[in-house]
Amino acid sequence: MHIVAIDGPAGSGKSSVSRAVAKQLRFGYLDTGAAYRALTWAVLAGELEVSTQSSEEIAENFAYSISLDPEDYWVRVGNSDLTYEIRLASVGQAVSEFASLPQVRQYMHWLTHNLISTSSLPGIVVEGRDITTVVFPEAKTRILLTASEEVRLERRSAELPEGTSIADQVTKRDQIDSRVVDFRVPAPGVHLVDSTELDFDSTVEAIIALVAKD
Ligand code: CDP
Repeated sequence: MHIVAIDGPAGSGKSSVSRAVAKQLRFGYLDTGAAYRALTWAVLAGELEVSTQSSEEIAENFAYSISLDPEDYWVRVGNSDLTYEIRLASVGQAVSEFASLPQVRQYMHWLTHNLISTSSLPGIVVEGRDITTVVFPEAKTRILLTASEEVRLERRSAELPEGTSIADQVTKRDQIDSRVVDFRVPAPGVHLVDSTELDFDSTVEAIIALVAKD
């Protein structure tokens, strides 16, 4: 299976670009951030406890599922569809705290490998913060997608409901996240794609060109 690993900070366009790349290549698409968000939602709802649990206990108590189809995106915990709930500001504000727990990261590592190994896709685009470095350092194509802070904040503010604080949603989250994994500088062998000056289609094309070469 051709694994395309894409990391980058919030607002770099990672999710929309990764999904478009997957569609064009007829690959699967896996948004790893959705699991961190769904886990946070479950903890905030009182349905899951993670701080005192091991990664194995989290796996037993968290019935997570996600679509790998770039044309049909959904996220579920048990029978509840959480596709929209995981984007709530309350989840965005709390997610980095839980994402910094080692047992949560260990569980996510296992989950990501498990979701992919049980699929029969020709390839998959996996996006997140630590995919090129920790989760799939052996991926055939590894990319760090960045953009200047100014452009990232502009792109993210276009996506958020009015009145939501961008500083809370993006800047603070990036600061906390970057203490846990470095997603600002490409690791050796990782391609850097800077989308500051690129529009959406050119960014997708640049990534497809790298996949074709690898
Ligand atoms: O879309 P955006 O980049 O803003 O965030 P996301 O991909 O939905 O990820 C939400 C949060 O999950 C991040 O702020 C990180 O705290 C965490 N995360 C992580 O630690 N490692 C990953 N591979 C993916 C997400």
